[in-house]
Amino acid sequence: MRIVLLGAPGAGKGTQCKRIAERYGLQHLSSGDILRDQRAAGTELGKRAQSYMDSGALVPDEIIVDMMIDATKKSPAAGFILDGFPRTVNQAAELDKSLDSSNQDIDVILNLQIDDQVIQERMTGRRSCPKCGAVYHIKNLKPKVDEICDNDGTNLIQRPDDSPEVVANRLKTYHQQTEPMVDYYKDNRMIYDIDANKNADEVSTLIFEKLDSLVRA
Ligand code: AP5
Repeated sequence: MRIVLLGAPGAGKGTQCKRIAERYGLQHLSSGDILRDQRAAGTELGKRAQSYMDSGALVPDEIIVDMMIDATKKSPAAGFILDGFPRTVNQAAELDKSLDSSNQDIDVILNLQIDDQVIQERMTGRRSCPKCGAVYHIKNLKPKVDEICDNDGTNLIQRPDDSPEVVANRLKTYHQQTEPMVDYYKDNRMIYDIDANKNADEVSTLIFEKLDSLVRA
């Protein structure tokens, strides 16, 4: 199964992708996580991406497209779920071209819909594990011990791009550059809208109901 999960910053893409990947045995391919790994490793690609990420702008397509298409090509036969990619009409078209060349297609596109007012609260309360990538929230999805990862005991961190100013920029970027891509998909394929204002377990239930029905069909 090849799935694309769309949604604004803080809609819960990472949280839901981890759950979907586990339930259906898929590889979770997060463009943001791959970029952060590149930055942490000090690679040339990571250095080129840094200033864009820190300001809340999109990293240029010529950096991101090859990186993500390469990741999809290396993914196991069971399939993948894409998180954060594609994010522009051009990225979506390049992904289509690549899949088409190996007679593949995206099977399901899910679109997490969330109100802008909810986003700031989610982002400023987010905490992440720098070791395993687990994502928590100081009120909504708390770790068992404050500021410590349940999986490996690592101290949780706040992402530098989660400051209110950068979140505002990321949201602006989303409305200007990514929303038109949702329309591109709506013209070409069936998109399933999911109400992401609900709590994380309720959102998972909505997604699993949809995916289970498609797997059974
Ligand atoms: P990226 O890391 O992809 O950031 P994003 O899309 O802005 O999304 P987030 O990771 O912030 O949020 P999310 O939707 O995953 O929410 P989460 O599950 O964490 O990208 C970072 C940067 O990299 C970009 O700004 C850009 O510069 C660059 N980049 C990446 N991809 C690119 C591309 N394709 N092209 C160009 N540039 C690219 O949840 C958020 C918080 O809410 C958490 O604390 C969580 O615990 C909590 N939460 C989750 N769900 C719920 C719920 N239902 N109820 C209550 N709380 C919840």
